[in-house]
Amino acid sequence: MNKALRPAVIAGNWKMNKTRPETKALLNELLPLVKDATCQVIVCPPFTCLETAVSALAGTNIKVGAQNCHWADNGAFTGEVSAGMLFEMGVSHVIIGHSERRQYFGETDETVNKRVRAALDAGLGVILCVGETLSQRECEITGDILALQTKIALMGVTGKELGRIVIAYEPVWAIGTGRTATAEQADEACGGIRGVVAGLYGDSAAGGLAIQYGGSMNAANASELLGRPHVDGGLIGGASLKPADFAAIVAAACQ
Ligand code: 13P
Repeated sequence: MNKALRPAVIAGNWKMNKTRPETKALLNELLPLVKDATCQVIVCPPFTCLETAVSALAGTNIKVGAQNCHWADNGAFTGEVSAGMLFEMGVSHVIIGHSERRQYFGETDETVNKRVRAALDAGLGVILCVGETLSQRECEITGDILALQTKIALMGVTGKELGRIVIAYEPVWAIGTGRTATAEQADEACGGIRGVVAGLYGDSAAGGLAIQYGGSMNAANASELLGRPHVDGGLIGGASLKPADFAAIVAAACQ
């Protein structure tokens, strides 16, 4: 399970931030800063800015992801967007199962699994988020929670399809709080997830899977987190809205 064999992936989850002109401005500033990146770079703006991002980034090394998708191809699902609609627009990835969707929008492990399936069927890459709450960590069931979330999310996903999945370990207590998991905690959790995936798909598939850490990752702490054997990248919230900070994290991942 040699870390050097898998690509580092740095993704910016912009959450509900930025208008279209702001998206253009941010990307114009970011592009020259990350143009020589040897790791994979993905930005995930809100739905309204996806087309702007896709056209601004055409022909560059930055890919565009959405922050959610529905599991149906189309139909009476007011307010939802299908995976096929994203793919057709030129979006290459989608974040699924973010804890904010689980917390505020009733997302469950089962609906996460349906969305993962739909995204893969549509041809998208998936950034699958898993993570424990503070009380779950305090009850010392972090490993069980991560295993449960991972196993249910990956139900019906083939070994070949796993190649289009990145898992993001995001402890809920570290998101937007400024309270980062220690590098040891992040590595232990990412390693645990890799063990679960190895149990499902074998050592070789698990060894090739990129597992990100997310939760108050920033320019100052990125190197230490990304230096750990099982931490293959980052899913960045707040710091992804600042081009210089996001580029510094990308640079740390490319070392
Ligand atoms: P912050 O980096 O703002 O803590 O957000 C992390 C996150 O939720 C990324 O998906």
